[in-house]
Amino acid sequence: MCGIVGYVGGKNAQPFLINSLKKLEYRGYDSSGIAICANKEIHVARAKGKLQNLEKRLDEKTLEGHIGIGHTRWATHGKPSDENAHPHRSNHVVVVHNGIIENHLELREKLQKEGFVFQSETDTETVPAQIEYFLNQNQSFEVAVQNTLKELRGAFSFAILCTREPDKIIVAKNASPLILGLGEGEMYVASDIPALLEYTREVVVLEDGEMAIIEKDRWSVKNFLGSEIQKTPKTITWSRVAAEKDGFKHFMLKEIYEQPRAITDTLRGRIIETSSEVILDDTILPNTAFPSRVVLVACGTSWHAALVAKFWIEGLAKIPVEVDWASEFRYRKPVIDNTVLFIPISQSGETADTLAALEEAQSKQAYVLSICNSVDSSIARKSNSVVYTHAGPEIGVASTKAFTTQLVVLLMIALRLARKRKTISENEMKGHLHTLTMLPFLVEKALSVDDVTKTIAKAFLHTRDFLYLGRGSSFPIALEGALKLKEISYIHAEGYSAAEMKHGPIALIDEDMPVVVLATGGSMLPKIIGNLQEVKARGGKIIAVISEGDQEVSRLADYSMSIPKIDDLIRPIVETIPLQLLAYHFADLKGTD
Ligand code: M6R
Repeated sequence: MCGIVGYVGGKNAQPFLINSLKKLEYRGYDSSGIAICANKEIHVARAKGKLQNLEKRLDEKTLEGHIGIGHTRWATHGKPSDENAHPHRSNHVVVVHNGIIENHLELREKLQKEGFVFQSETDTETVPAQIEYFLNQNQSFEVAVQNTLKELRGAFSFAILCTREPDKIIVAKNASPLILGLGEGEMYVASDIPALLEYTREVVVLEDGEMAIIEKDRWSVKNFLGSEIQKTPKTITWSRVAAEKDGFKHFMLKEIYEQPRAITDTLRGRIIETSSEVILDDTILPNTAFPSRVVLVACGTSWHAALVAKFWIEGLAKIPVEVDWASEFRYRKPVIDNTVLFIPISQSGETADTLAALEEAQSKQAYVLSICNSVDSSIARKSNSVVYTHAGPEIGVASTKAFTTQLVVLLMIALRLARKRKTISENEMKGHLHTLTMLPFLVEKALSVDDVTKTIAKAFLHTRDFLYLGRGSSFPIALEGALKLKEISYIHAEGYSAAEMKHGPIALIDEDMPVVVLATGGSMLPKIIGNLQEVKARGGKIIAVISEGDQEVSRLADYSMSIPKIDDLIRPIVETIPLQLLAYHFADLKGTD
């Protein structure tokens, strides 16, 4: 994932490009660059590393001009370096790109035979070269871009400048997001809406197969063959403040603390306790025989949400559930038909594998109900229906509020299916809905473990390996806790079912391998206590998430993180909070990204 931006108007382009790239750093931060055109010349500045390195370079030599494009990169082809940083150029043409050009080797070889020399290892550099090739055949900028697009296979969004037509930016989109922002005498481009909100609230969301030609006071959208497409701009109503840090040291911490609000927003208007109903306007469930099966697909943290949902949908609605990694799904000839309810889960709504899994399922006639956080994202747009998590923009790369709100939506879907199939009574439903209404308050209380998690992180700061244990629906939370620690603190961690520990991993346990365990209650607690005794017997250190007032686990544990007493139904959601804070404090104390 990378972020791209563009500006054309009456002002200097550089401030917009840098400021909006800052908002897109969550999409990638291993290098960045901008290109600005003035007097029919394009000047490029690029730097390896975070955006501040580019800013330093620009402090020494500002780029002046009223039209420009920019990029923040997360490497896919070619290591992070100045040379591989975008923009890439070929004589008259400069390009920034988000995505992957699958046939770049083929194109590179063909263009090299035509005499093109490449400066970088990237797939992207073939694109300006290919456009240049068509310009050399006297094609206009627009036609050269169209002909280039026909040559490309893969996922992309581009913003392109050309010195032959220096007043326009051409952008194109296929499977990577791209938004136009409309101003007064100025136009903007960005990979997502929050990057534009400081400048405009009038946006045009481009669809796959669309390109746009943008000048300071006009814009038009065409398909890749050049036929005009009528698009209606949308007005965005989110507050800009919602996309900023709000006094917290990091976005991740802010987003952890936003969870009570995010959960409230996600529940809002969707549960009616008195009539024991869940209202999900967008969920279309044609009849009680449907679905024969539910298939959940996602990647990373969102996949952990799917694993928890299996417990809820099978337990409450008695429908068989399969959970797949979206990244594996289409490669194993999955058996899917029109009786399947297919649920892709994605915060961004742009994860390429999840999108591809969705397309695979749709091609086999499954009904696709997606769960997304980003409104109007590619996955949301392609689904038959969508239930949005109302977490607000998640800027932190480590998914936190998106995860807990995904769980809330999945639980609501399970309850709705259960009532529809009458696998739970009206009274049971009322009880569950009451539990759900308490959730924001319980999550708020769970946040009070913050200080304890910081103490624990300090005590174990130099530990290299952790084991995370849980059972039942807490097992996916152990996986999630371990993923979060790995992802942001760069400490090795494994999530395991506590029950499976004796089948191998127990051999690893000693005083250097602490065990983080989810032991807040439920019918599995006595078994978990048995596992903890085994850990103790091997000299292992225990860091336990426990229930308020617990005596038994805390006696065994070296450190305890206490959360309020909770109903089994919402246990995995509330248990997540201490593990997010623990990972955050490790990363903060270590100073990792
Ligand atoms: O946007 P998505 O939910 O589709 O992203 C999927 C994963 O890349 C994501 O959940 C990732 O694992 C998290 N950033 C980890 O914190």
